Amino acid sequence: MATRTVAVVLAGGVGERMGAGRPKQLMEVGGRPILAHAVGAFDAHPGIGEVVVVMAPGHLREAAAITAPFAKTAAVIEGGATRTASTVAALRLLDDRPDDVRVLFHDAARPFVDRAVIDRVLGALDACEAVAVGVPSSDTIVVVEDGTVASMPPRETLTRFQTPQGFRLGTIRKAYELALADPGLRATDDCGIVHRYLPGVPIRVVAGSERNLKVTQPLDAVIAEHLASEEAP
Ligand code: CTP
Ligand code: MG
Repeated sequence: MATRTVAVVLAGGVGERMGAGRPKQLMEVGGRPILAHAVGAFDAHPGIGEVVVVMAPGHLREAAAITAPFAKTAAVIEGGATRTASTVAALRLLDDRPDDVRVLFHDAARPFVDRAVIDRVLGALDACEAVAVGVPSSDTIVVVEDGTVASMPPRETLTRFQTPQGFRLGTIRKAYELALADPGLRATDDCGIVHRYLPGVPIRVVAGSERNLKVTQPLDAVIAEHLASEEAP
């Protein structure tokens, strides 16, 4: 039977804010590259059939070596200049798959996505076409314009998005088709594309986890190392 669920691990970025001199997903935490943690989480999940890795240009060989030990690694392909372009590269690879295949897009920079979060996304995808993962914000978030508070949305309505974001392949394919035809397309995440170009499609939000942090800046690497040491057997 053809695979019904594909995890796409997006590792096409260069990690400018981390400033490590190479893509942050190649940095080690807990003795393993961040990319290996992320791919390993999907490889180990029984609901995932295959994993596609989208890697930053110039680092495909390293990514192939890191992901080769995982049985579900199906392809390592080159990403684009933006996250959107990297997602599109993965969608092109999946061009001939049927619309009802499920696809999860995950930031390679989130090494600690766990089974429970993936379970919740897959569970929600049984009934929905688009699923996001969110955590409540403990900080108050306000809209600032020209250095002045413009509005203060009630905190309980605000959610910080994480990944994976899950979709029926036909839905995300259609959303990107419309997005790519729009000369005014601005970079956003995959749910943002569905929200903007298929406004009739509800995006279900399931609970993420504070451990599922995105390693973005040097302080995050310190936190990630600590989390990895807690995880060690
Ligand atoms: N990503 C991608 N292709 C890009 C840019 C980003 O696949 N052209 C991926 C990153 O590798 C990362 C995820 O999208 O796993 C989230 O992006 P971000 O945290 O912004 O990573 P970078 O773009 O690498 O970091 P920075 O923005 O600091 O350069
Ligand atoms: Mg980026």
